[in-house]
Amino acid sequence: MNEPGHEQQSAPGKPGEVETTGHVWDGDLREYNNPLPRWWLWSFYATVVFSLIYWLLYPAWPIAGTYTKGIAWINYEVEGESQRSHWNSRALLVRDMQTGDAAVRQREFLQVIAEADHDTVLSDTDMLAFVNSYARGIFGDFCAACHQTGGAGIIGLYPNLADDNWHWGGTIQAIEQTITRGRMGYMPPYRETFDDQQADAVAAYVLSLAGHEGGDPEQVSLGGSIFQGYEGGCYACHGREGLGLKSLGAPNLTNDIWQNIDVTGAPGHAERQALVRDLILRGVQREMPAFGDRLSPAEIRVLATYVHQLGGGL
Ligand code: HEC
Ligand code: HEC
Repeated sequence: MNEPGHEQQSAPGKPGEVETTGHVWDGDLREYNNPLPRWWLWSFYATVVFSLIYWLLYPAWPIAGTYTKGIAWINYEVEGESQRSHWNSRALLVRDMQTGDAAVRQREFLQVIAEADHDTVLSDTDMLAFVNSYARGIFGDFCAACHQTGGAGIIGLYPNLADDNWHWGGTIQAIEQTITRGRMGYMPPYRETFDDQQADAVAAYVLSLAGHEGGDPEQVSLGGSIFQGYEGGCYACHGREGLGLKSLGAPNLTNDIWQNIDVTGAPGHAERQALVRDLILRGVQREMPAFGDRLSPAEIRVLATYVHQLGGGL
């Protein structure tokens, strides 16, 4: 390539003409002079300065298995003890969750609700909105594994909490107690007590209590005397009228709501009767674990209010 010649630096004259640097190659190759716009250049310098400050303050460069930590510090609390570490987003998150404005406000509101009486909470839309959003999170973490999202439960395993049927009681107090202390539902098996005929008869009677027509009247009447008599002793837990006994977690048998067997899903009377008979023969034992040592009283209160609401609030 030839050495560049020189000519006068030229400023644009006519429109469309561009300023040149004055360098000329091969007689007529000129070099345009298009300097970077000022604003662009200054923005570029600003980003350089920014990144230098950033590298200095915050974690930035990987070096041999670790990284430059920066000189910025962050203070936060873990279980009441203050901690200090170089700035990092995990510590920042911990700090926000513990002492951030939103977290503090949330804790204060939780406390207000925990100390308010039940009716106040149920009639205050702000409190209820808080209860529902806050409790949904705890429910997801601690309860949904068994009771399923929304408390729908699984027949035969975990009770549905979203209906108005409660074995242990659906008041907020009763639900609080269920969550705090846990519950153990127990009905003895009658395998050794009943022969097939008796078991069939009691099942027919139980179905008649729940309003299912179609049972053999003789069976129903025999079943009734076993239910109400010494042999079955069912009344001791389920009550003379079959309305249940909340202190034992013994369900109401008259409402046609079933937790352990899918009676309403069965195709016909014979199938329904078989389901009930088998349940009576095998008995039931189920346990709801206690959460008194895993959740704070305020959390349990909020959760109980939420679960009470799920069941239609009755
Ligand atoms: C390991 C599974 C499991 C977990 C987790 C669990 N439960 Fe239960 N829960 C049960 C079982 C089983 C029962 C039925 C107990 C019985 O009556 O036999 C039950 C019963 C209940 C009842 C009583 C229902 C009624 O009809 O009276 C309530 C209320 C309840 N659970 C709420 C909760 C809440 C709230 C949580 C979360 C803090 C939770 N449960 C976590 C298994 C579980
Ligand atoms: C010691 C108390 C007790 C006695 C006695 C008892 N039950 Fe129960 N029964 C219960 C309890 C508690 C449950 C609920 C268990 C659970 O869901 O965890 C239950 C559940 C049932 C269910 C299932 C209800 C459902 O929703 O799935 C039927 C049906 C039933 N009992 C019928 C009877 C009959 C019939 C007798 C007499 C032959 C009888 N029980 C005797 C305590 C008793």
